[in-house]
Amino acid sequence: MTELHDRRLTAVRAVMEQVASETALHALNRDRLDRFKSALLELAGQPELFSEGDYPSPTKSQVAKTYLLAESANQGPALYLISILPLGPSPIHDHGTFAIIAGLEGYEHNTLYARSNSETGPGKATLHICDEQILGPCDALALMPQDIHHIDNQHTLPTRHLHLYGTAFEHQTGRLEFDLAAGLAKRITIPKVPVDRSRQVT
Ligand SMILES: [Fe+2]
Repeated sequence: MTELHDRRLTAVRAVMEQVASETALHALNRDRLDRFKSALLELAGQPELFSEGDYPSPTKSQVAKTYLLAESANQGPALYLISILPLGPSPIHDHGTFAIIAGLEGYEHNTLYARSNSETGPGKATLHICDEQILGPCDALALMPQDIHHIDNQHTLPTRHLHLYGTAFEHQTGRLEFDLAAGLAKRITIPKVPVDRSRQVT
């Protein structure tokens, strides 16, 4: 094994072990999420561990690449490197689980929405934009399970960002997608995300 491989393994394991042990013992809250964000930022501060050579950006025909870096047993947290070409905005959505995004390269434009306090789950959804953040290298964003956002790559570079979720994509069954114009939320099963498992770290 190379030194780089060893460093990547140690660094990714440290994040996953911290997240696993804290989520096993404690309920999720913003303070805990901020600690996970700090851990992911530390990982994103070592971009040489996630180089273009080891994790190639998508081709024009692929548009996006989702590399699984690490996953836990029992539908626990999962870590990905996701690279997206300029594509246009994603649907407005939550994740039904926590989500942390930390930038390696490129710029991911995040628009964050607040929903009326009287509303929850599918059905009537009154949203307004409450924040916008552009995540570049070593920037991070932490979302609680019901936090709502959409992402957009408005730049010419591909985004290359680390994404840590409370559960893997295939288990994110509690997601909501929002239709701003219609004022509605609906429960969705996300289309099967093509996940590349060939470069999994641990
Ligand atoms: Fe998202």
